[in-house]
Amino acid sequence: MKKLSARRRHPLAAVVVLLLALAATGGLYAAFAPASKAQADETSQSLTIKEGRKLYEVGCASCHGTGGQGSSDGPSLVGVGSAAVDFQVGTGRMPAATSQGAQAPRKKPVYTQTQIDQLAAYVASLGAGPVVPTKQQYGPAGADVAKGGELFRTNCAQCHNFTGKGGALTEGKYAPTLEGVEPKHIYEAMQTGPQNMPSFPDTTMSSQNKKDIIAYLHAVDSSETTNPGGLELGGLGPVSEGLFAWIFGLGALIAVAVWVAARTAKAKKS
Ligand code: HEC
Ligand code: HEC
Repeated sequence: MKKLSARRRHPLAAVVVLLLALAATGGLYAAFAPASKAQADETSQSLTIKEGRKLYEVGCASCHGTGGQGSSDGPSLVGVGSAAVDFQVGTGRMPAATSQGAQAPRKKPVYTQTQIDQLAAYVASLGAGPVVPTKQQYGPAGADVAKGGELFRTNCAQCHNFTGKGGALTEGKYAPTLEGVEPKHIYEAMQTGPQNMPSFPDTTMSSQNKKDIIAYLHAVDSSETTNPGGLELGGLGPVSEGLFAWIFGLGALIAVAVWVAARTAKAKKS
């Protein structure tokens, strides 16, 4: 007994206790803390999916089925990818008000972007599909506006009009105006081909070409840029503009001719 208490009072005892305590804390930390950053990301990813699943069950499952397998009121979402969800929910098309109607219209979005990301993560977990593009993919850096205009005229203008103002299709469907549509949503529309629009996957239209088209649409978007000059004339192209010049231009010339003739006649009289 005497021996033990003597040892306790040894000057190094405190240091030994401290070292033991530190080792124990370190061991506990190693045992309970996330082993790596990758694992931490994985848990936050699965949390996002879990949140998305909750939102999905409340807002979407009635039409798209409890596991996204689809129902008589909505198509299957397995494999549509996060890009389709980001587009459909981000432009307010989804949740649709009814499963009837020619086409789900664009409306004010119901969900925040965080919730949309969660919904998109959940739907993407059901089956791989087109992924939400990055800013680098749809941003203006390195885009060729002239090339974009050419691509737009050959691939999109037949439905959306030459300057993207939109137009009617058959059976009450329509290609909407592309003015004021976010670059990200334009990219996603091309990736996923909503409803009557064909899709333009990277295999048929490269990421660079999509970027060019977006830059072109931005350049002709009169809701962002002020029109560089002249009257708009419906953006219908050379025919209507030519006709306009013909009627008004010629009319003005005739008026001037009449005025000159009248003046010369008057001058002669006096
Ligand atoms: C009232 C029924 C209804 C509700 C509620 C609804 N949808 Fe839809 N959804 C549809 C129908 C019908 C279509 C297909 C036609 C269309 O796009 O208008 C569709 C299409 C989609 C598409 C496009 C699929 C594709 O093939 O590209 C996505 C993505 C989608 N819905 C996601 C959602 C999400 C996410 C929710 C919940 C926030 C939701 N929907 C809620 C009826 C619904
Ligand atoms: C066959 C006709 C057709 C062609 C070709 C077409 N689209 Fe569409 N597009 C549509 C229809 C129809 C919609 C509406 C879909 C909906 O509401 O779900 C649409 C919707 C869009 C939207 C969504 C606009 C919004 O209001 O949110 C964008 C962006 C778009 N198209 C871009 C393009 C681009 C770019 C091309 C060419 C690469 C193209 N489209 C080719 C028919 C077409």
